Amino acid sequence: MRKKIVAGNWKMNLDLTEGAELVNEIFKGLPVLSEDKQVVIAPPYLHLTQTAAQLTGIIDVQLAAQNCHSEASGAYTGEVSASMLKSAEVAYVIIGHSERREYFKEDNAMLAKKVNQVLSNDMKVIFCCGEPLAIRDAGTQNDHVGTQIREGLFHLPVAQLTNVVIAYEPIWAIGTGRTATSAQAQEMHAHIRGVVGGQYGSEAAANMTILYGGSCKPSNAAELFACPDVDGGLIGGASLKASDFLGIVEAMADL
Ligand code: PGA
Repeated sequence: MRKKIVAGNWKMNLDLTEGAELVNEIFKGLPVLSEDKQVVIAPPYLHLTQTAAQLTGIIDVQLAAQNCHSEASGAYTGEVSASMLKSAEVAYVIIGHSERREYFKEDNAMLAKKVNQVLSNDMKVIFCCGEPLAIRDAGTQNDHVGTQIREGLFHLPVAQLTNVVIAYEPIWAIGTGRTATSAQAQEMHAHIRGVVGGQYGSEAAANMTILYGGSCKPSNAAELFACPDVDGGLIGGASLKASDFLGIVEAMADL
């Protein structure tokens, strides 16, 4: 049975007080979720121990980090390792967000190493993929995303796939207000499931959670989540306001 997930990626927003308030507001409005549904919150590193303390005893909400370093430890000033995140009770780590790929020059080879760090520290990966507008306009988005998945994930043994979630985030839809249509999302999610199935078989593909990200909001979440291959969302801007985030969580709860 594959999980449905709504994950909030706060990116580089909110100070500690604002973060604590947002988590409290989310708790107040959180609907009852069935066992196959989960909320994930990915605050900045600095918030993690505070948010972990707030999440104590709340099983429906799990903690995520937005990144980790590709090496286990060492002289990497300013960086944070996967084992540090594990010790802060982090359950998921977002790897390969398009902002990391673009602004921090993270390539697929580096991302594959980060994936290994997360999994070897017994956390789960939210692996992001997605094409820029020029690739979409050229019509080669399936090849582009397929390569990201192959080079980032296909070194893994099949047994590790249960610890991987894929997030499809078309770059032209991130923070732009321009959402992919549900037809575009479904088409790409089915393609991704097919790519995973080609390598690992249909059972592993059927069990893979594939999230959509890119201007997902309360007004479009229900339609996106109704697509058969869309298993929830990775939410940026709308995760910073409790009422918006909860509206999206409700759309998942209603499925
Ligand atoms: P957005 O960001 O919801 O603000 O478009 C999504 C993301 O980057 O994860």
